Amino acid sequence: MHVAVFSTRPYDRTFLERANASGRHQLDFYESRLDVASAAVAQGAQAVCVFVNDRLDAEVLTRLHAGGVRLLALRSAGFNHVDLNAAAELGMAVGRVPEYSPYAVAEHTVALLLALNRHIHRAYARVREGNFALDGLLGFDLHGRTVGVVGTGKIGECFSRIMAGFGCHLLGFDPHPNPVCQALGMRYVDLPELLAASDVISLHCPLTPQTHHLINADALAHMLPGAMLLNTSRGAVVDTPAVIGALKAGTLGSLGLDVYEEEADLFFSDLSGEVIHDDVFARLLTFPNVLITGHQAFFTEDALTAIAATTLANINAFEDHGKPLYPVSVERVIGVGCAPAPAGTT
Ligand code: NAI
Repeated sequence: MHVAVFSTRPYDRTFLERANASGRHQLDFYESRLDVASAAVAQGAQAVCVFVNDRLDAEVLTRLHAGGVRLLALRSAGFNHVDLNAAAELGMAVGRVPEYSPYAVAEHTVALLLALNRHIHRAYARVREGNFALDGLLGFDLHGRTVGVVGTGKIGECFSRIMAGFGCHLLGFDPHPNPVCQALGMRYVDLPELLAASDVISLHCPLTPQTHHLINADALAHMLPGAMLLNTSRGAVVDTPAVIGALKAGTLGSLGLDVYEEEADLFFSDLSGEVIHDDVFARLLTFPNVLITGHQAFFTEDALTAIAATTLANINAFEDHGKPLYPVSVERVIGVGCAPAPAGTT
């Protein structure tokens, strides 16, 4: 099958070509994001292969369909960036990668937590300049602290296991409690109680209408003074200006982010020689107690291998049987919140 691959970085190409070693499919790689302007390059392809910041709204899908595209092969678990109704109306199939490595994301979340708590990002810079003073680097023992986990699916469960290993008390908030987390000693509570009792709060829920700006000014007001907030789920789960307000007021102790609501114009590109026009993001960068990574939590050898293999399996299945191996349907989305939720992930 002829596949137009968008938002390609060299590592995407390496792993996808490895998964397509038989040469069964013709993969055409494009660095550009998929949007209304770039959709034309997919003319003649039967499938597009896309990532989290590609645009798959009705307008783009209509253009792709007119050019012959019938399969949207997502290199992600999350599908909040796809207009599924428009895809269904056009008769386009959507395939995703439901699970690749929850460990990758959970471990990166712990990396943010440890770095923020022990100020590793600041210590690294200081020591390289010959500054061995410890002032400002005071942390706290994780042992005995309370960690609140919002969304205890695959990634939340992995994260909880690690935090249980540190000797933390676990609180969970999820419409579908996870028995594995309960076996770790997690107590499920409502969100206000979790916010009010947790020293560290980590977000691992999908972005849905219910979780959009779940962490807003009201939620921040419920948190323990000095609490740490971690978001490796989706940027829009957090109301960034509200978080900036809490950081300025000194009520939020620290913030670790791998995702940002407006990340599409920033992440996955080298902008080091350019002016950042996003003033909200620029303000976040000024805080010493904020640590941001550019949506890299998934970025391990293991995860990229699994993503490429499943993406090719979706394309193979579509070519062989007219349906991707892991399809996403409109019904799946309607099911969110009333059935075991689909992974709405990277
Ligand atoms: P999952 O589907 O296994 O778990 C999500 C959990 O969130 C489910 O247990 C679900 O019941 C719960 N949930 C749904 N609505 C909720 C709500 N309103 N409040 C609290 N909990 C709610 O998904 P998985 O694989 O654990 O992924 C979680 C998130 O991680 C995804 O949303 C995705 O956006 C993010 N992610 C980020 C990556 C990165 O590189 N930063 C990579 C992969 C995923």
